[in-house]
Amino acid sequence: MKSRPNIAIDGPAGAGKSTVAKLVAKELGFLYIDTGAMYRAVTLKALREEVNFSDYNGLDQLAAAARVKLVAGADADLKVFLNNEEVTEAIRDPEVSRNVSLLARVPSVRKRMVELQKAMAVGGGVVMEGRDIGTAVLPDAPVKIFLTASIEERARRRREELAAKGDIIGQRQMEEEIILRDQVDTSREKDPLAPARDAEIIDSTCHSVEHVVAMIVARVKTWRYKT
Ligand code: DC
Repeated sequence: MKSRPNIAIDGPAGAGKSTVAKLVAKELGFLYIDTGAMYRAVTLKALREEVNFSDYNGLDQLAAAARVKLVAGADADLKVFLNNEEVTEAIRDPEVSRNVSLLARVPSVRKRMVELQKAMAVGGGVVMEGRDIGTAVLPDAPVKIFLTASIEERARRRREELAAKGDIIGQRQMEEEIILRDQVDTSREKDPLAPARDAEIIDSTCHSVEHVVAMIVARVKTWRYKT
């Protein structure tokens, strides 16, 4: 049997990574891993325990004590557990979204997360989504995608997702929140959001989800054919 490659999908918030990564995983029969969910679960814990987001030591201790588990469900959906409590919905709270990049900038917290993520991918056959997958977590992945889209489109998509849950946010406010998050994610000292040198950059603004998925699956098939 041919080996199953790992696939790294990075990009900024709202670029469509989760939708695309889930569908790619489903089509290939691979495991989908959302690394942002791990940072979100630890952020939820920090908010609950009122740890200050400039207290790097406190955040590191908190991350060390957090047992985050991702469990694959139907349709490649993931259930997220924090110390055995299911937090799949709770980690999508706007308060978590506003603070998560402040936790994700802490170098020692990232180190812990990256180690856990590397371990999850040792057997291959993983579609891993995040910000530093191609650069830091899986630098040897044979298929690396950096998915992006215009700010307007990204804000529109995030608003739609939130509206489906009853949270109504204005376009301008959403764009400002996304720009702020991008700034923190791209300017942090450790593993900032950036495409790997060998990543294929796909702008999803004008492509359908199906088209982007087909492009990525074709890349995987080409790689398998060549090896
Ligand atoms: O993809 P998301 O919106 O759920 O990610 C939440 C935050 O976590 C985002 O601000 C960036 C951070 N993150 C990260 O720094 N590295 C990753 N591999 C995944 C997410």
